[in-house]
Amino acid sequence: MPDPIDVDALDEPAAMAELARLADELSAHDLRYYQDEAPTVSDADYDALKRRNTAIEARFPHLVRENSPSLTVGAKRSESFAPVTHGVPMLSLDNAFSDEDAIEFDAKIRRFLRLGEDTVGYTAEPKIDGLSASLLYEDGVLRRGATRGDGRTGEDVTANLMTIAEIPHRLAGSGWPRRIEVRGEVYLGHAEFAALNAAAEAAGEKTYANPRNAASGSLRQIDSTITAVRPLRFFAYAWGEVSEAFATTQAEALDAYRAWGFTVTPQSSRVENAEGLLAAYAAMEAARPRLGFDIDGVVYKVDRLDWQERLGFVSRSPRWAVARKFPAERARTILEAIDIQVGRTGAVTPVARLRPVTVGGVVVENATLHNADEIARKDVRIGDTVVVQRAGDVIPQVVEVVLEERSEGVEPFAYPTHCPCPLQTPLARETTTAGVETVVRRCTGEFACPFQRIEHLKHFVSRRGFDIEGLGEKQIAVFMENGWIGEPADIFRLARNETVLDDLKARDGFGETSVRNLKAAIEARRTIALDRFIFALGIRHVGETTALVIARGYGDAETFLAAMDKVADRDPEAMAELDAFDQVGAAVIEAAAAYFGEDHNRRIVQALRAELTILPAEKPKSDTPVAGKTVVFTGSLERMTRDEAKAKAESLGAKVASSVSKKTDIVVAGPGAGSKLKLATELGVQILTEEEWLALIA
Ligand code: IVH
Repeated sequence: MPDPIDVDALDEPAAMAELARLADELSAHDLRYYQDEAPTVSDADYDALKRRNTAIEARFPHLVRENSPSLTVGAKRSESFAPVTHGVPMLSLDNAFSDEDAIEFDAKIRRFLRLGEDTVGYTAEPKIDGLSASLLYEDGVLRRGATRGDGRTGEDVTANLMTIAEIPHRLAGSGWPRRIEVRGEVYLGHAEFAALNAAAEAAGEKTYANPRNAASGSLRQIDSTITAVRPLRFFAYAWGEVSEAFATTQAEALDAYRAWGFTVTPQSSRVENAEGLLAAYAAMEAARPRLGFDIDGVVYKVDRLDWQERLGFVSRSPRWAVARKFPAERARTILEAIDIQVGRTGAVTPVARLRPVTVGGVVVENATLHNADEIARKDVRIGDTVVVQRAGDVIPQVVEVVLEERSEGVEPFAYPTHCPCPLQTPLARETTTAGVETVVRRCTGEFACPFQRIEHLKHFVSRRGFDIEGLGEKQIAVFMENGWIGEPADIFRLARNETVLDDLKARDGFGETSVRNLKAAIEARRTIALDRFIFALGIRHVGETTALVIARGYGDAETFLAAMDKVADRDPEAMAELDAFDQVGAAVIEAAAAYFGEDHNRRIVQALRAELTILPAEKPKSDTPVAGKTVVFTGSLERMTRDEAKAKAESLGAKVASSVSKKTDIVVAGPGAGSKLKLATELGVQILTEEEWLALIA
């Protein structure tokens, strides 16, 4: 494009034409920004266009257009959705991949509920490949709609959800609870998806890879008028918080939803026992091509809600449901190169660079090769034709080589012996504490290895960590190259460093607005929950759930860090305390000791802590009669199984132990109780029958 004429040199007709052009250009940029989340200009260039528009308008005020960019857009770019804390968390489902898995699911339900050969009813529903949403109705009126987010906190997208025709603003019929969170899936049908992409293509815009991405992009539009023209749909299939029970089975609940004006998952059926589960899967597979929307499996749910209640949850998913997934989709392509990627903990992964190929509707260019052993086992060579597989959200993988297609002279792949990082550390196989060789090869450079450092920082700012919006891989790389950040605390120092921020504003890809937003996003995270803080440190084996357990166990940052110092010194009492937390085992303790045993890690944590206010963990349930108590079950239980009793006690904030000691508060003894009961009597521990226990927690 030729250099635009200087604003001062414009005459009136030229100014008018220029304002029209700018309005068009800016609105096109806005659309790409909102609609595709894929802007084609930097914020700096965008801002320059805006400034030019304003400058011309200042010279020719009578030419200001009705749709002027200075009037219509701008502020919107920095807006985001308000957070919504779900009344009941939105969980995920455990996966099953085979008939055997489905049979085991049924068997586990029977064991847990001690049902033997009794008939167990299930619903089998299509697993819709969209994104879940939660709709809060009060007195039958839609009050608020939210995305799932991280399961605990989502985004308020009420205005957007209200544009979906299949979401009633007011519930029909009667019998709805006064307050209910209706949950279901927002999705886009095949025909609508094709039409949307065709329109985008005609307009020279980016197309979506699949209906799910398109649905997600459409729902998360800041401007709900854009969502309104996207033909999104909604299936209701679950619920969160409810003020009154409205059904006794899942099937009844779906009937109620239908009566209230929702569309429920078609093709849903009620089946019995393991045989029923298998038949429902086969039927769904057969129906799949004719549904007109994407599904990626079948969701089995225990039909009786009282049983669902008894089964409860494990970690992030219900025991009473499972997703039986369809097999992964496959395609052939050429393996063009193999790169070595270094992860956060130094473990290296070989990555296949592929000639782009469509697998299950998504273009795949990279796939994992797992490790050196796998490459050797499959004899994967550069230049080979390979089979690539992709299932749902899983990273695509190279399944096998098509040997018939191998050209002559293709050499076996020589696995690198050294890390590609500047330290070039030798890549040795890792051995376990027991001295057994594993498939893992690791760069031992730790913080001195720039690849590990960047992965650490990426993990630190990730959604489940500090969740700093606008600070992703690209920005971290730029900041590291400039020496502005090297460790987590630097991110918070950066937000206070006006000199660097000013420098940043002048750079391509940043600009005034994005720097302001970034600074605000960082400042917003100076106050952080203890579990997020722990998770973000990136200690091996400490995922989100474990971080939460540890945070709750210690309560506040002070106590947690003091305990970690002791664990690092291998203080037996401190290690035992950590070991006693649910879900914490030897691997976690070892990892924590190794992490806090490193001086530079302690320094990094201290520096970070100095920048933050770390909120104490939400206490586990404390308003129940057994909260904080240590309970031991012994003898046989008649009204519930051992697993069930343990799960229930833990959900009420009690700790369940397997042996009786001075620390035991309650022993629940059934018929046949022996030595534990005797010891409890000697120690003067409170002893309850099963009936008394149930009365206590009722
Ligand atoms: S029930 C406690 N039913 O699958 C979980 N989920 O992996 C309740 N999904 O986040 C979910 N179709 O987005 C349920 N018929 C169906 C579903 C379904 C799709 C999605 C949902 C959820 C994910 C779980």
